Amino acid sequence: MASSKLTKLLVDVHSHVYLPRYTALLRSRSNAPLIKTLTNPDGKPDDRLLILADEPSTGRPVGPQYWDRDEKLKFMDKHGIDVTVVSTANPWLDFLPPPEAHKLALELNEDLEQYCSTSPKVVDAQIPRLFGFGLLPLVPNVSVDALLQSIKQIAQLPHLRGLIMGTMGVGKGLDDEALDPVWAAIEEAGLVIFVHPHYGVDAKAWGERDNGHVLPLALGFPFETTTAITRLIISGVLDRFPNLKLLLAHSGGALPILSSRLSSCIVHDPVVASRLKHDARYYVGKLYLDAVSYGPEEMGYASESLARASRYQTGSQETASHSSLAVKRSLGSKRMMFGTDHPFFPPLSSTEKWKSVVENLQAIEDVQGWSEEDKDGVRGGNAVELFNLNIS
Ligand code: URA
Ligand code: ZN
Repeated sequence: MASSKLTKLLVDVHSHVYLPRYTALLRSRSNAPLIKTLTNPDGKPDDRLLILADEPSTGRPVGPQYWDRDEKLKFMDKHGIDVTVVSTANPWLDFLPPPEAHKLALELNEDLEQYCSTSPKVVDAQIPRLFGFGLLPLVPNVSVDALLQSIKQIAQLPHLRGLIMGTMGVGKGLDDEALDPVWAAIEEAGLVIFVHPHYGVDAKAWGERDNGHVLPLALGFPFETTTAITRLIISGVLDRFPNLKLLLAHSGGALPILSSRLSSCIVHDPVVASRLKHDARYYVGKLYLDAVSYGPEEMGYASESLARASRYQTGSQETASHSSLAVKRSLGSKRMMFGTDHPFFPPLSSTEKWKSVVENLQAIEDVQGWSEEDKDGVRGGNAVELFNLNIS
């Protein structure tokens, strides 16, 4: 396939699966996370997924979209998605004891490799339609050796181009120095880390009214990512491992809009002021964000905030930003990538296409300041480059 065509692919970097082996585990459990089967009013079985903290006992509907590869491919066809980089959905292995988590990580990584390697190819191209993010056994008391072994495995599986992780680390979050050997190995392997939320924030903040899953998903999830990555930044991880490739779910939550406030709080704080090599906004500019924010204003602003790495680099000559909005947004757009969050957010009533997908695509189309080339990049070209999708 001509390289110009590769820049026109639609690539989904935020799309989940519960592989059959993982689904079987969820079905075997009697406490969350689990899948349980209720009976609906017309006597038919009704599978429900219960994974979130304080989730109502009815959970959420779950079906073949979550585990059947044909359903993933049908969804891709329906929405014109050429390639998907698939990741296991939350809560990954977080709830398992270390030996089980380690064993299952190795098995699920092999399963995902198989899921991708046997997928059809993009028409006219030799690249597979499915790639994957592997899993690490990130649980309390796991050995560093087990983590390093899983990183090595992922790096060797040809269709796995990164790994997905939550925010728990090995129990103390992503600013835990115990993770340094993990960051070092991932950086060395050149794998992309997709950081995704699961726990949200303290559910007391949601009050007593029944608002379904709206508050934990719309606010709790992105605030969790915001907090986790802010902690990672101010602990100096990105100074120690400057080549880490961190891709944040849901456009990095509130981090883009709070990054100047974060910078100000750091420089006024005697504990932290001299800890980092650069201004906090420099580190935000080193991140990659998915374009799963559903609105052109949010995407446009996120791209602007990503364009600031050089401006806030200590020692940089570039102290002020005189560039036009389009120049800044164009630069930042190179670090943003289309995603769907499939199979979550299915339409409530039958529609030809999923609103959650159509809206994200329309938002990319409508961002002020992005050229056609920038939009092609966000739709797929940036992912082709970041994940080396043209090399199979
Ligand atoms: N709900 C989840 O539990 N996970 C997602 O990724 C999206 C919605
Ligand atoms: Zn997701």
